Amino acid sequence: MLLTASVWSKRFLSRALPALILLLFVGLPLAGAHGYLIRAIPEDRSVLERSPARVQYWFSEALEPDFSTITVRDTSGTVVAEGGVSENDDKLMTARLPGSLPDGAYIVDLRLAFASDGHVIFESRTFFVGEAVAGVGGVTSSDQAVTLEVVWRALLLTSTLLLMGVFSLYALVLVPAWGSDAHPAGGLPPRVMNRLYVLAFTGLVLAVIANVIALIQQTMVLFGVDAGRAISEGLWSVVRIGTRFGDTWNVRMLLLALIAVFLGAGWYWRRTQPSLMRPFWVASVWAMALVLFTWSIAAHAAGSLALPWLAILSDWLHGAAAGIWAGGVIALALVLPVALKPYTRDARRQALLAVLRRFSGVAIAAMAVVIATGIYNATNWFTEANDVATSYGGTLAFKLLLVAALLAVGAAHHIALRPERYVRWSALIDRVRTFLPTLRLEALIAVLVIVLAAWVAATPVPQPTLPPQTETPGGTQTVETLSVTLAITPGGPGANTYDVQVIRGGQLVSDADVRVQLVNPTLARRGDRHVAEDTGDGLYVAAGTDITQAGAWQVLVDVSEGQKSTRAAFPVTIREDAAVIFSRAPSFLQIVALVAVLAAVGVALSPSLRRFVSWLNPRPLSLLVAALATLGLVAAIVLAVWLSDLSNRQTEAELYPLPTLVNPALPDADSLARGAVLAEMACGWSRDNRDLGELAERLVRLRDEELYAFTLEGWRSLPPCGDVSDTQRWDIVNYLRTLGE
Ligand code: HEM
Repeated sequence: MLLTASVWSKRFLSRALPALILLLFVGLPLAGAHGYLIRAIPEDRSVLERSPARVQYWFSEALEPDFSTITVRDTSGTVVAEGGVSENDDKLMTARLPGSLPDGAYIVDLRLAFASDGHVIFESRTFFVGEAVAGVGGVTSSDQAVTLEVVWRALLLTSTLLLMGVFSLYALVLVPAWGSDAHPAGGLPPRVMNRLYVLAFTGLVLAVIANVIALIQQTMVLFGVDAGRAISEGLWSVVRIGTRFGDTWNVRMLLLALIAVFLGAGWYWRRTQPSLMRPFWVASVWAMALVLFTWSIAAHAAGSLALPWLAILSDWLHGAAAGIWAGGVIALALVLPVALKPYTRDARRQALLAVLRRFSGVAIAAMAVVIATGIYNATNWFTEANDVATSYGGTLAFKLLLVAALLAVGAAHHIALRPERYVRWSALIDRVRTFLPTLRLEALIAVLVIVLAAWVAATPVPQPTLPPQTETPGGTQTVETLSVTLAITPGGPGANTYDVQVIRGGQLVSDADVRVQLVNPTLARRGDRHVAEDTGDGLYVAAGTDITQAGAWQVLVDVSEGQKSTRAAFPVTIREDAAVIFSRAPSFLQIVALVAVLAAVGVALSPSLRRFVSWLNPRPLSLLVAALATLGLVAAIVLAVWLSDLSNRQTEAELYPLPTLVNPALPDADSLARGAVLAEMACGWSRDNRDLGELAERLVRLRDEELYAFTLEGWRSLPPCGDVSDTQRWDIVNYLRTLGE
């Protein structure tokens, strides 16, 4: 049986296209919105003994390197350092400071352009070297929304929710309620299809206008220029092709164009291939779902520290359900007058009730999803009691007031549609029984709620209070006339920067060879010996992920100036909470809201799930098999995760078995010096002994406890060391370690 071209395109539009679109979901670049500071070194207003090697500020999400700057100036306004986004971490703003800043107050001006939605915020922070200076302070960033941004977001949200409302109303309400084969083009009377087309194209045009305003506003804030220059100098194209905001913008425009093609194709073939119009409209629902996704990946949700992907999914579900509900109400209020025009009295009432009853069922399911996801969205940002008393909290509360009004009018319609069930509400039923006027009121409130949703989305989220910052691990060691200052930042497990400042006799030392190595004697872990880069002003910088966990570590710094090499050893305590945490566990309220979201989605999808199950027509046995198979799969996944975790821990334990003997001696310059003498004098291990050379080559594979054993039992021609104390044996071990360097 040959399938005609139209049957194939119908199949493609209604089945393959949704799958294709869902695939695109995964491909879209993740963004985030309105990031906030999660770690600052130095802390704001901290008083430091000496000037730090650098200032570092970690944010909850990525920054646009081309538009984010950091300037450090003294109180006279002289700029002492400039910086920007770190090359290795796009969430880190950093600036290296000159060797030794004189005592005084310093102001750090931050211009932050967040990659996701391009929000640019200015804030400044201070730190003091020596002692605090009164009257010098930073400026926190504004927590107000930018008006032009509220405008374009309101236009964008209203137009896209209207589009979602028009397409979902068509597919979920009008066709099931009024659909007939008498109308091959779209299944509905031409006057209704025409009105839907007018609404759809109006929504598309408004969405494109909103998107263009968004790009211009974005260019204005990123470049700090007015609209005229943003347009005339073509700066908008720099933003369009060079920023993450631009990526999302392009995808959104592409999808809007795709929908225009769908609608245009359906309209073009309405006479020759009328049966194609419906699949094109159904495909537009899916394409619209993806347009909504381009908001969510640039919404606050993507900057959530707790399960960001779930936050994005919830924001998307919220927007999609709000589109079906609120967008549907607006579309219904605009379609009904035209649709009912030819009908009078009973026929009109029947036609009206058929659609309203159908819509009421869909709206209730969507409303449940909107409320559950709305609460989940809110739990991302209200983590501390005083968060509600912020601009964000206030604007959201204002929105919820209007949502309550929307629910009230919706409830009145629900009651009026079921007079037999709500006899006691007859007065109210009489008031709304014609429905159209109150539907228009509901649509108006819905638009106001959407405008407030845009305002909320444009308002910076409450900034979580930074946890008290721990002292950055490090310190200063002086060996003879050499003073070595170490700072490990941020100073927790994971990626760290090791700043080493070398001063000899009060002079900054440059062109030295500086090596940094992290050692954990308790775990018998030795990191690589990093060559620190000479960045001038006596500052040497290395970075690494050597610190695998909190606890007592040692940092061995070897400074070689020509033939002379000096060891400075620093015992440091690494604290778990010093790490820059880019994620947090979901709160209890968040988990409860998540369960509510799953329940609401389950209820909303239950009719289609029931249809699907009846289509499957499963017998009890196949249901049992399916349930057992699902359980089996889940059990297999849990087992696989547990087994892989177990084998990781076993590999870890095999690779890094815990030492039976822990080297208690800090391998500082004194220990090395003592060890060298003892190795020669007490052990008789002279440097020209061939086996000592052999031993030196094997050091990387040997653990301290093995070297300790060699001092007890000897090794090849190297005799055991004579009468030395335990501490002296460890000094010998520490000295031996340097033979391989
Ligand atoms: C109990 C009811 C509701 C609650 C608690 C709620 C809460 C929220 C929250 C917290 C957000 C995230 C805003 C952000 O930070 O980006 C949000 C977004 C949004 N809400 Fe609601 N909302 C509710 C009802 C509604 C209704 C009825 C509508 C539609 C008429 C609506 C439309 C939207 C839209 C369009 C967004 C997306 C904004 C964006 O991602 O840019 N909400 N809502």
